[in-house]
Amino acid sequence: MRAARHALLPLLLACCLSCSAGGVVAEPVAGAPGVGDRLFPHAGNGGYDVTHYGLDLSYEPSSGRLSGTAAVTATATQDLGRFNLDLSGLTVGSVTVGGHPAAFSRSGDELTVRPDKPLDRGEQFTATVAYAGVPRTLTDPDGSREGWLRTSDGAVALGEPVGAMAWFPCNNHPSDKAAYDLTVSVPGGLTAVSNGELAGTSQTGGRSVFHWRTSRPMATYLATLAIGHFDVSRSTTPAGLPLYTAVDPRSNDPATAAALARIPEILDWESGLFGPYPFASSGAIVAHLGSDQGGYALETQNRPFFPGDGDPPAVPLSTLVHELSHQWVGDSVTPRSWQDIWLNEGFATYTAWLWDAHEGGDTVDQSAAAAFAETAAWAFPPASPPTAADLFAAPVYRRGALVLYELRRTLGDAEFLRLLRAWPAEHRYGNASTADFTAFCAKFTGRDLTPVFRTWLYGAAKPAHL
Ligand code: TRP
Ligand code: ZN
Repeated sequence: MRAARHALLPLLLACCLSCSAGGVVAEPVAGAPGVGDRLFPHAGNGGYDVTHYGLDLSYEPSSGRLSGTAAVTATATQDLGRFNLDLSGLTVGSVTVGGHPAAFSRSGDELTVRPDKPLDRGEQFTATVAYAGVPRTLTDPDGSREGWLRTSDGAVALGEPVGAMAWFPCNNHPSDKAAYDLTVSVPGGLTAVSNGELAGTSQTGGRSVFHWRTSRPMATYLATLAIGHFDVSRSTTPAGLPLYTAVDPRSNDPATAAALARIPEILDWESGLFGPYPFASSGAIVAHLGSDQGGYALETQNRPFFPGDGDPPAVPLSTLVHELSHQWVGDSVTPRSWQDIWLNEGFATYTAWLWDAHEGGDTVDQSAAAAFAETAAWAFPPASPPTAADLFAAPVYRRGALVLYELRRTLGDAEFLRLLRAWPAEHRYGNASTADFTAFCAKFTGRDLTPVFRTWLYGAAKPAHL
């Protein structure tokens, strides 16, 4: 589910020219091995647009082995003699395209598939990959761990920014969002939790099978799967939204329960800021990862993930507010490329400032002053993290939030709050870039906001004062 891109056009033309001019046997037209993300050049692939992932998996916690098939349904956006999927580690047993065996090869994190006959531009196809192995934990440029994280009784998959490829073959870039059906078999007694809604469960041969369905478009980095012992609670908010919350029994203390009990209230309050909640269910996942493996929360679609082994409390309210706000800014409206990440983190940080003030804690002015005073927040402009290691650095979060703070001072409360509500509607279930945001602000307000953005979003220098 992605708008057509034009970056591949020159490649396509060059190939057509050589075909007609030379009379040589042409190499099949290849999809690019990356979408051209400045910070993650190998992430994603060109030449197709995924509409659906059908993952049918089985996991064995004792050996750590994951096995199954991934049926990737996509539309070719160019003629394709071959194309890539992103997959890190694991062993591929076979690949079919349209039910016919396809040749494939591996190189680094790229799985190259060559269908038995080339795909035509516009053609819909399903590539089915059978694979197995012990999935990898990936270490990011900033040292954080993602991908597949083993726990004492299972595993948790976390995928920001590129960890999805550690557990399923995919077009691993936020610009290509898709629907998902995930069916996973685990030993009886364990629970498998994922995004979306639980479409069915069954028991066979001492195993439990969980079918999770995500109908709304989801970026690969937001896909999760948590397997283990969980206390599951299902309820419906006063507004009628189904909640599914899975908490590691070791984290299921009164403090965690009290925080999670406020999800309906937080979603209501955030709906006031950002408009209607974009998805068909919510909830949370709280799991123990072990001290060496994580320690960060993640806005996995529908139900955010929280590390349950922090000391104390497991789920701070401001973090819960932050991750739930990402359902609008990040999950429904997803960055077009990784350098647009401040559209997630600046907005979520600002939301938590508003919440703190609403709860009688620090005022927004106090939070903004603290951010302004933080030396690390001025390392680079939020619009342009210099390297992949800077994706989750202070400027993205705190200086990103200061962009919104300054926008509010410029526009005044009423117009700013109207804009904050209109923005998620403008790109609901899609993607947006920093340029999309600044253009939207100009159009929505009819004002020249260039000075605000020049200073707070793009400027290298720290302004003299707030
Ligand atoms: N996106 C997460 C959040 O702010 C945080 C996150 C994901 C993160 N991966 C990370 C933070 C790696 C630090 C390092 O909600
Ligand atoms: Zn965040």
